[in-house]
Amino acid sequence: MLQLRGQTLLFIIGQEFHIRLELDEFLSSLPRSIVTGEAVSLPDNVVRRIFKFAKLKKNDVFYHLGCGEGNAVKIAAKEFGVKKSVGIELDKATAAKARKQIAGIKTAEIVNIDITKANISDATVLLFWFNDPEMIDAMKDRFKILKQGARVITIWAPLGMTLPDKIDFPFFVSKKPFKRARSIRQQIKAIYNTDCIDFAAAWLLAERYIDALEVVPGEYRRFVNILQGMVIWINAWNMGVACEDEVPPPVQTYVGILKTFFSIDLTSIIKAQK
Ligand SMILES: C[S@@+](CC[C@H](N)C(=O)[O-])C[C@H]1O[C@@H](n2cnc3c(N)ncnc32)[C@H](O)[C@@H]1O
Repeated sequence: MLQLRGQTLLFIIGQEFHIRLELDEFLSSLPRSIVTGEAVSLPDNVVRRIFKFAKLKKNDVFYHLGCGEGNAVKIAAKEFGVKKSVGIELDKATAAKARKQIAGIKTAEIVNIDITKANISDATVLLFWFNDPEMIDAMKDRFKILKQGARVITIWAPLGMTLPDKIDFPFFVSKKPFKRARSIRQQIKAIYNTDCIDFAAAWLLAERYIDALEVVPGEYRRFVNILQGMVIWINAWNMGVACEDEVPPPVQTYVGILKTFFSIDLTSIIKAQK
């Protein structure tokens, strides 16, 4: 159940999303690592898919920022044969586990340091899966030292307000020099090929995210899909990029179900007016 909750919460913590009131209470009952999604790691198959999508090659220098137990670092080195594969991990015990994973692989290493302080200047491909806006801001600054052509892979959203070079939602590759989107609408257009997000699009995006990450157990899929779909739509509404002029009936219904049967009250975060 915790795993499901971890996933669920991970979905909730979108970039522009602020959790308040009742939802806060719900979240505070869970361990911190679960709430932030830190305990969620990418399955090996998803890592392989991401690497193929980013065209990870032998001459690449790969960094996984926040590498967890190091499976991506190992796969990059062993299966994709990159020149150098580095995992940066803040948590000491997790970094130790990651070191065990890559033991004997000469081209791989784990550095136990904060990613905001790590030397990543030789990186050509970086996997950066963080949705915390403060962290994204801090790293955007740090990415200034990257060489032209370096590719940053993000999950769920592109890197801040950049226009990604490659998209296979929920995976994004942004290449240096990063192209800046002039507005959220332009970014949405570039990513989803649409001017606005309606209920159906929000639902579909939630579904694609769940499918792509392969971490939500089958029996919870429906619930997570509903919750995340609502969160995506509400985000779009609050940012003024929902297609609808008023909260559509399916959103009202699902938000009602979540409130009544799961004590998750999303009503307070739907902005009153568009
Ligand atoms: C890659 S993050 C994934 C975060 C989450 N899935 C999300 O959506 O934001 C998970 C890993 O990053 C590590 N981590 C968190 N903050 C870090 C930091 N400042 N520097 C290095 N590693 C960090 C955690 O210990 C954890 O192993």
